[in-house]
Amino acid sequence: MDKKKNIVLIGFMGTGKTAVGTRLAARLGREFVDTDKEVEKVTGLAVRDIFLKHGQTRFRSEEALIVQKLAAGKGLVIATGGGSIINPENLTLLKEDGILVCLQAEPEEILRRVNKKRHTRPLIKKSMTAEDILELLRERQEYYDNADLFVDTSRLEPDEIVNKILQKLNER
Ligand code: S3P
Repeated sequence: MDKKKNIVLIGFMGTGKTAVGTRLAARLGREFVDTDKEVEKVTGLAVRDIFLKHGQTRFRSEEALIVQKLAAGKGLVIATGGGSIINPENLTLLKEDGILVCLQAEPEEILRRVNKKRHTRPLIKKSMTAEDILELLRERQEYYDNADLFVDTSRLEPDEIVNKILQKLNER
């Protein structure tokens, strides 16, 4: 595994990017960064409040600035917000010097997970069903398909997901 390359976790909300990313970084002795957290640091606002006060367009431009900064780093584990790689520039930058790992999960499982932390996720509405999640997932599939490797997290604990990722990275 190239130690200088960033490991970039992409995938839909609720697929475990942050929980897995922190553990993966610890296992590899790498620094962990999360694009949402970095956006919150520079703006001084929670993601939800950026959407509420300034709208999604503002969030996406803050997110793009953070991606530019983090993609230039070396040997990081980066957890990205679920919509970040829809922006082609973000995707190009992250892929240039990074291995893209897409975390996946079944819509019912995603719904269960995001419902627990719905208040932090402005795109998740109270009345959302697994069907709605599936529709959003389908819209985004072509972007997530740019990943170098994929792990289904539906029935796995974070540490098991980390093991799977490490195994796949070592097989490359
Ligand atoms: C978003 C995902 C969120 C956050 C924002 C928008 C998306 O991050 O960036 O609410 O468009 O999918 P997580 O994937 O970490 O929940």
